[in-house]
Amino acid sequence: MSFQQEILRRRTFGIISHPDAGKTTLTEKLLLFGGAIQEAGAVKNNKIKKSATSDFMEIERQRGISVATSVLAFLYKDKKINILDTPGHKDFAEDTFRTLTAVDSVIVVIDVAKGVEEQTEKLVEVCRMRNIPLIVFINKLDREGKDAFDLLDEVEQKLGLSVSPLSFPIGMGYDFKGIYNIYEKNINLFSGDNKKNIEETIAFDNIDNPDLEDIIGTQAAEELRDNLELVNGVYPPFDKDAYLKGMQHPVFFGSALNNFGVRELLDCFVDIAPSPRAKMSEQRLVKADEEQMSGFVFKIHANMDPKHRDRLAFIKIVSGTFERNKPYLHVRQNKKLKFSSPNAFFAEKKEIVDISYPGDIVGLHDTGHFKIGDTLTEGEHLQYKGIPSFSPEHFRYINNADPMKSKQLYKGIDQLMDEGVAQLFTLEMNGRKIVGTVGALQFEVIQYRLEHEYGAKCSYENFPVFKACWVAAEDPKNDEFKEFQRVKQKFLAKDKRGQLVFLADSQFSLQMTQSKYPSVKLHFVSEFD
Ligand code: G4P
Repeated sequence: MSFQQEILRRRTFGIISHPDAGKTTLTEKLLLFGGAIQEAGAVKNNKIKKSATSDFMEIERQRGISVATSVLAFLYKDKKINILDTPGHKDFAEDTFRTLTAVDSVIVVIDVAKGVEEQTEKLVEVCRMRNIPLIVFINKLDREGKDAFDLLDEVEQKLGLSVSPLSFPIGMGYDFKGIYNIYEKNINLFSGDNKKNIEETIAFDNIDNPDLEDIIGTQAAEELRDNLELVNGVYPPFDKDAYLKGMQHPVFFGSALNNFGVRELLDCFVDIAPSPRAKMSEQRLVKADEEQMSGFVFKIHANMDPKHRDRLAFIKIVSGTFERNKPYLHVRQNKKLKFSSPNAFFAEKKEIVDISYPGDIVGLHDTGHFKIGDTLTEGEHLQYKGIPSFSPEHFRYINNADPMKSKQLYKGIDQLMDEGVAQLFTLEMNGRKIVGTVGALQFEVIQYRLEHEYGAKCSYENFPVFKACWVAAEDPKNDEFKEFQRVKQKFLAKDKRGQLVFLADSQFSLQMTQSKYPSVKLHFVSEFD
């Protein structure tokens, strides 16, 4: 197969959802279709369970297993599908945001009864900012839920998406009969009483055909015709270009648990979803079919075994081919590195590969060279853009609790921050270190890992911060900025990259600061233009 064909057949995507909407179940069903797993439950058992909110030992255990599920690859209709796992747990949202920098498209799962939930809103906003092509899957149609049109409205209003339904449910909950597939123009009937995934597909390109009554009954037929008329009247027809530009969003309905509507989703997905897209670097736009290899680190996974402190750095290949034992330039360190055992992922296994293509994810054993966002090339000094940090939600001073082990402590903190477990801020005034996390759980994880992996002990002290804002002065020399620096001295810190950060202690002080120093721009995300 030619290089070009290898690129065109790749689909690298992520599934996002609010916890419990059905992301894991859907992932599993997609893997079953791809023949990548033989039985349901294989992925599910690896999931970080809800109970984990108070049980970080469990998370540690899961962390080990989840290396295997970080990337789930399989073949379907000759397409190479790479699903990048995104943790549903909200305390790991930052991980998910970073993973979204490595996907070429996204499927959003929404629970038919709960509608659009908070976590979905945040994640979709990130996708919209980046114009990532996005398909919506409304799940759990076997249960009573919201009216389909109300849900479509909600998706448009709350998520700011412009929807185009590609399937439509026939009934719902107890009366759920099946789905009309608008994309393929057929009906899939569901005999779901015994939940045995039985389905029957009937080609049906003319919805006015009177046979419809015989198949789904008079009332359901009437309703379906009315609904489809409304769909046609209200929503624009599917436009693949608009979808690829992230401007239109196809919607599917189904039930992942009952394997219903999943094949339709997958078939349409492989057909319309983009192959690896060009990616912007600080220097230029890099196209997938360029010959020279380039890629970037979007995730770092620590080894579970404390005796082997190596880590696995996950690289998304953006262009060219990544080859085993070939020297590549680590741009930030300006150093050539060779990798003798790059891992590729297939189903739930990882294995050493000789060659990988754009869209693929390669796992590299790392002894501390990599940080999230690092770029590898064949020699060009490129730096990929866009692994932003978001303001953490929780902040605490971190103190050394064992003065004999301060070297270990700082090394540990440094490496955990490189992995992206949390963010570190150093106060300008006195050099004290503050850890910022998305969820309270991470403080426990950090403490536990510092002790077990680095032999260091830390303690925390509260530090009341509402939001961390990255500071951009219109003119760093002007008096307003100098005044801001002087007055707010106590609240100013540097992040790990040396960027200036304002730690606002309340919404009120943030607003006051903004209005008092209008030329000092405060951003909630670390990357801004
Ligand atoms: P998540 O990864 O998005 O957090 O969701 P997950 O797939 O774990 O699904 C959450 C719960 O919703 C699970 O039930 C799952 O079985 C159920 N579910 C998923 N898809 C459907 C569907 O189409 N219909 C119905 N009725 N339920 C669905 P659970 O009781 O929490 O877990 P389990 O005991 O079934 O594993």
